[in-house]
Amino acid sequence: MKHLDIHKKVKRKKWLEMLLGSDWDLKPAGGATGEAFSARDGDRKLFLKCNSSPFLAVLSAEGIVPKLLWTKRLTNGDVITAQQWVNGRRLRYTEMNQPKVASLLSQIHRSAELLEMLKRIENEILTPERLLQQLRHKAMFFEEHYPLIYKAFTFLESWKAAVYHDEFVVCHCDLNHNNWIIDENERLYLVDWDGASVADPALDISILLHWYVPKEDWKAWLEEYHLTLDNSLLRRMHWYIVMHTLDWILNESNHEHGEQLEGWLSYLETLITEDRSSYC
Ligand SMILES: Nc1ncnc2c1ncn2[C@@H]1O[C@H](COP(=O)(O)OP(=O)(O)O)[C@@H](O)[C@H]1O
Ligand SMILES: [Mg+2]
Repeated sequence: MKHLDIHKKVKRKKWLEMLLGSDWDLKPAGGATGEAFSARDGDRKLFLKCNSSPFLAVLSAEGIVPKLLWTKRLTNGDVITAQQWVNGRRLRYTEMNQPKVASLLSQIHRSAELLEMLKRIENEILTPERLLQQLRHKAMFFEEHYPLIYKAFTFLESWKAAVYHDEFVVCHCDLNHNNWIIDENERLYLVDWDGASVADPALDISILLHWYVPKEDWKAWLEEYHLTLDNSLLRRMHWYIVMHTLDWILNESNHEHGEQLEGWLSYLETLITEDRSSYC
């Protein structure tokens, strides 16, 4: 995940103020990257983001994100997008279990139009092999005193062929609950598409189920999504959750979440030592 330093944040805000004019009151929208702002002028309110994915236009047309209103390129090369402001709230941790989350994700994963469009923008498919390459690159800068990191790499290497799956869909790749917002009429949106990629749907489903849904509810959640919980899916989800957890550790160890690292390392240890004999 990308983090902006404080100087860049201040600069971003200045550029946006110049673009919109002094009537607009700009505030950070509270995302993970510092690239998102709210802008208010009286009754009018916008959601602004710097360098959003060009995929946003088609997501807006499909009603998956709040309506895209305009896109502008600044002289420094940054692209600003403005979307309709949603008067609502983020989903709570416990609400990720809801059928409407499963059905929106299913709609996204099954959309041929979205897939067609994303393939034009991103010509690379995020296969297990490609994900491992990216992780290895990140690990080059990681201090080597965590043998567990290397155990996790060995796990991912040895299982990557067994989890190869040739159905590729549009994956959001950052399905944490802060990226799901619900408006006053209970309409659900999935925002923050900057990391979207073409990949195995298990990449998205693994996070959702492992992090938010109790194991005994997985079957029911997947019924809403229209998928059967079989051994292939269990194997793939397990591989992807190890990958996500390792990725999180490698990304966040240098940032403000550093103090939570021990917890994530012990979660990783549990994942790679878990008994998988029933589905492997
Ligand atoms: N159109 C919108 N209206 C209101 N709030 C929004 C809108 N889009 C996103 N948000 C809120 O702003 C937060 C930050 O936006 P996001 O795109 O996730 O930025 P980041 O990449 O920094 O995480 C989201 O977590 C969500 O709660
Ligand atoms: Mg976000």
